[in-house]
Parts: sequence; C-alpha cells; structure tokens
Amino acid sequence: MRTYRLKQLGSVDGLVLQEEDVPEPKSTEIVMRVRAMSVNRRDAFIVNGAYPLPSQPNVVPLSDGAGEVVALGSAVTRFKVGDRVIGSYWPRWRDGRLTPDLGDQLGCTIDGMLTEYAVLDEQWAVAVSEHLSWEEAATLTCAGVTAWSAVVGSEAAHPGQTVLTLGTGGVAIFALQFAKMMGCTVIASTSRPAKAEKLRALGADHVIDYAAIPNWAETVRELTDGRGVDLIVETGGPKTIGQSLAAAGLYGHIVLLSVIDAEGNGLALPGQVYSRTMATLSRVFVGSRARLEAMCAAIGAHRMRPVIDRVFPFAEGREAYRYFMRGDLFGKVVIQGA
Ligand SMILES: NC(=O)c1ccc[n+]([C@@H]2O[C@H](COP(=O)([O-])OP(=O)(O)OC[C@H]3O[C@@H](n4cnc5c(N)ncnc54)[C@H](OP(=O)(O)O)[C@@H]3O)[C@@H](O)[C@H]2O)c1
Repeated sequence: MRTYRLKQLGSVDGLVLQEEDVPEPKSTEIVMRVRAMSVNRRDAFIVNGAYPLPSQPNVVPLSDGAGEVVALGSAVTRFKVGDRVIGSYWPRWRDGRLTPDLGDQLGCTIDGMLTEYAVLDEQWAVAVSEHLSWEEAATLTCAGVTAWSAVVGSEAAHPGQTVLTLGTGGVAIFALQFAKMMGCTVIASTSRPAKAEKLRALGADHVIDYAAIPNWAETVRELTDGRGVDLIVETGGPKTIGQSLAAAGLYGHIVLLSVIDAEGNGLALPGQVYSRTMATLSRVFVGSRARLEAMCAAIGAHRMRPVIDRVFPFAEGREAYRYFMRGDLFGKVVIQGA
C-alpha cells in the first residue's frame, strides 16, 4: 500500500509517500481502507513542527479519514467487514472530561489517515451515515466535532438564540450549519463578497464583510437590536477577539478556538471592552468520541451535508496541504483515497 509519513518537520516537503505492507489487525483492531481524508489547521501546525503536542517521528498524518472496514481482529464486536467508519480525534477519550492520560491524537501521536489502509482499535472508530459520500464523511472528525462542541456542547446554543461565526473555514461553516440545525439565528462574516452568497445559501440570516467594516461588532449589535449575540464561535483569535467581545451579549458566551495567530502572537483581552460585559470565555479541544457519535447521529437525522472546497487526488497530498495553507477556502480540503 501507499502511505505518507512525516519524515521531517518544518514544511510540507517533509511528507514522504512510500510503499508499505498492508497492516494485519490484532485482536481488537480493525483495518480500514481509507477512501477519503481531509486537512485541518492542526495538520499544518504539525507539519511545521508548531503544534503544542509533539508528533511521533515518522507519523502517518491527518486525523480525518473515512473508509470501509476490510479486516477484523478476532475479538472485534463493534464493527463488521463493509461498515463505513471514521476515526475519533482523541481515540482514547470516549466521554466526559479529557484527562492527561487520554492525550493521544490520530495523525500526531498515533498514525493517522493519509494512507491507503489504516489500522485502528475498534474503540477508536465510529460509524457514519450512509447518506454521506466518502469525501463528506472524511470532513467530520476534527472541524465537525469542534463546531459541534462549540455550538451544542456544554454551553449549548438554544433555539431562537443568535450565533456569530467568523470567516469561511471548515469549523465556521460547520458551526453555521449546526446553529441552523438548532434553530438559531446566525450572523456570519467573510471578507469575500462571493462567499457571502454561499453563506446565505447555507442558511446564514445575516452576513457581514469584516474587511469592509473593521468595526463589525457595531453591525452585530445593530442586527441584534443592541443586545449582542448569545454565542460566538471564535475561530479568529488575536485578530478578532476585541470585536468579538464587543459583539457579545451581556451574558454572551465566546468559545475561543484559536489563541495564537500565524505570526505567533498570543491573545490579548482588551480590558476596556471586557469591562462592559459578563461574557464567558471558554475553550474546546475538538471533543470526545461521545460528541463525535452525537454529531454523526444528528447529521444522519438531518441529512446534513458538509461543505467541501476542493478535492485532491491521493498522489497530490502535499499540494492539498499547500492549497489549504494558502487559506482562501470555503469549507474543507479533501484528499481522495488511493
Ligand atoms: N481548539 C480546537 O479544538 C480547534 C479545532 C479545530 C480548529 N481550531 C482552530 O480554529 C481556527 C479555524 O480553523 P479552520 O480550519 O476552520 O479555518 P481556517 O482555515 O483557519 O480559516 C480560514 C478562514 O478564516 C477567515 N478569517 C481569516 N482572518 C479573519 C478575520 N480577521 N476575521 C474573520 N475571519 C477571518 C477567512 O474567511 P474568509 O475567506 O471568508 O474571509 C478564512 O477563509 C484555526 O485557528 C484552528 O487552529 C481549533
């Protein structure tokens, strides 16, 4: 089989495509033929050696992949050959709170999905809805669960509340889709007028051009009759936190997904702005397997379709990374299986 391994940190050139034996499953393992994978911001950090969790040397990258079960260990009970599955981002974190002993991640400390065949413990995988294509199913593990945790997690948005999403990356678009699924009003932002129409087509009730209106929090407050929004899925980080705080309602909730920008600058909270609100700041680290399962069930029930920006062939895995890193996306960058 063909497998990419991250041989050297620092750039996408460190990703090497090589031939390996197809893995054999041990007793509780499944072998999955990976039909599609997707790239997330963390994968770019990992390749650059800038991810907070050090990656295993020569790791097979990518947490996100979808495929069919082709072989089973003798003790496997959760799956049968032919099942359609995806991996869980934190394979050992099943439910409840994340603890330090559960700190492995697919495509980082454990081999991931940028390969023809992946071997996973059966507890690390979940089934995906039949209505999704392989490419769509391959978008869910990281960006999907992150948005699900932010919108439907411990401080869930309630029907009728207003949710703000920033930009058109994978997480923000999933957040828009989940917030609409929950019966919320969504205010979305983008710097690209062409993407505004696409956001409206996905259900955004209002779209703000954050590049044309640097003080966009005022527009958010006008759109909410001065109240501010209930939930902000804060994918912007240091560049947007000031406006997000100004856009938050008195008891608003801001889920901080990004706290360091591409230049390495950390988040600074503007005290003058924060002094006017009791908004809660919280963090999310993707989510547990239970969150992944709940999200997959909701996606199946609503026949929701993830948004894909572009699909690359397997042989162009490095080009998919480079395209993703350039950053002008609408949804997910996917790589087809070999
Ligand atoms: N903590 C976690 O669990 C977790 C998990 C996943 C991701 N994340 C973080 O979440 C962030 C989003 O990741 P992603 O992969 O979905 O998207 P991404 O690729 O990082 O986002 C790209 C988009 O961000 C928008 N953007 C850039 N500058 C902006 C600004 N000043 N204001 C508003 N939007 C801006 C742009 O949208 P337009 O082109 O429309 O302008 C761009 O297309 C990343 O920082 C990632 O590290 C955190």
